[in-house]
Amino acid sequence: MRKDFGKKTVITPLPVLILATYDENGVPNAMNAAWGGQWDANEIFVSLSTHKTTDNLKVNQAFTVSFADVDHVKEADYFGIASGHKLNKIERVGFHTVKSAHVNAPIIEEFPLTLECVVKELQEDKTGFILIGEVVNMSADESILTDGKIDLAKLRPISFDSAANEYRVLGDSVGAAFSCGKEFFGD
Ligand SMILES: Cc1cc2nc3c(=O)[nH]c(=O)nc-3n(C[C@H](O)[C@H](O)[C@H](O)COP(=O)(O)O)c2cc1C
Repeated sequence: MRKDFGKKTVITPLPVLILATYDENGVPNAMNAAWGGQWDANEIFVSLSTHKTTDNLKVNQAFTVSFADVDHVKEADYFGIASGHKLNKIERVGFHTVKSAHVNAPIIEEFPLTLECVVKELQEDKTGFILIGEVVNMSADESILTDGKIDLAKLRPISFDSAANEYRVLGDSVGAAFSCGKEFFGD
């Protein structure tokens, strides 16, 4: 037996992306965004309502995206329930930023993996914006590397569970991609 839920949409896993931007005075801001993902080899997209972040994107045409991790769940959630229109959220949670060497946007030092992006498109429609960003650099703290490569087991990124309104940690590897299905090819 299957149960119909009508138009309710659950996509899983949803990422917990932290978009960081500067405002016109160089004050850094961070917001939580789950409705986003990879758009092309070196491009990402995010569906956005109107926020301090979208104001900042218009001003500087640049942003960074970090991946919220187990160690910073509460801070990541705060970035999604408070607005930079009212206060400096990054200062409030005690995080630190440095300016990206590649784009005019802040890198939040507490998050070990960050994509540094320029705005390729910021399309406005009746409900908000579709942001497409071109990744010009990816930087990672050495603490999440194994043999020089990104190790998600060390990063421990979280995902947003929109069915239960919870954050969940990404689990163990359960198979090699582009490979573990080969047994079905037959001879
Ligand atoms: C789990 C979670 C996911 C969210 N995903 C999005 C999203 O994909 N797009 C969006 O516009 N807002 C999203 N939000 C809401 C924004 O993060 C929130 O409105 C925030 O206050 C905006 O910050 P700002 O005004 O400082 O830019 C999300 C919030 C949470 C808690």
